[in-house]
Amino acid sequence: MILVKTFYGYNELRNFSYLILDKNSGHCWIIDPYEARPIIDYIKKNGLIPKGILNTHQHFDHIRGNAQLEEEFSVPVRKLKNADSIKLDENHLLETVDTPGHTMDHQVFIWKHNAGPWSLFSGDTLFNSGVGNCRGGGDVNALFHTTEKILKTLPPSTLLYPGHDYRKRNMEFAQKVEPENKKVREELHKLLEVNTEELPPLTLEEELKVNPFFRLNSEELRHNIFENNQVDEKEVFIELRRLRDNW
Ligand SMILES: [Fe+2]
Repeated sequence: MILVKTFYGYNELRNFSYLILDKNSGHCWIIDPYEARPIIDYIKKNGLIPKGILNTHQHFDHIRGNAQLEEEFSVPVRKLKNADSIKLDENHLLETVDTPGHTMDHQVFIWKHNAGPWSLFSGDTLFNSGVGNCRGGGDVNALFHTTEKILKTLPPSTLLYPGHDYRKRNMEFAQKVEPENKKVREELHKLLEVNTEELPPLTLEEELKVNPFFRLNSEELRHNIFENNQVDEKEVFIELRRLRDNW
């Protein structure tokens, strides 16, 4: 049985780190370790055997815990190529996909199996109700194509495990650009009363209703950000990213 364990960094960066672990063998894979100590403690307490560290990209807050984990467990950082996969057990794969945009060497990891929804560990490519910025070595055109590719190739039931919890702030932006979106209003109302970092992951299908970067053909959204509505999806995406950067 494969499980995901989420670690949240209680600081202003709001990082998520993840363990993918096989309950039967005790093997586990570490994704984007921010704080090493809680991960080390969890691995030891549960008698797990770390098999490797995976980083979605090289920004410091996604590799920060690498060295301490490598030293503690002699576990390697694995750099995979596009479409490489790791066999988690007989029925479960973790596949790597190149996703340039936030940075040009960004990758995501997809846990694929037949027994339930897939999971996307999206790093800083996709967030709840948002996408990554491109200010630290990225390119917004590439991010548009990457987002398109992810939405076209992954089932709507895929669960999203992002690299940060920016859910509330992103939902506020979603409301700004699409104030009549009832789902956004409802969700924002709910989020004001909870600790968003503790919420269960959402599916891509749910994100399609509230993530402005997935809603490039929304008439309301287009009307609010462009005087002339005759623009293509990429132009809407780029303008949304620019507005979000300056918001
Ligand atoms: Fe980043």
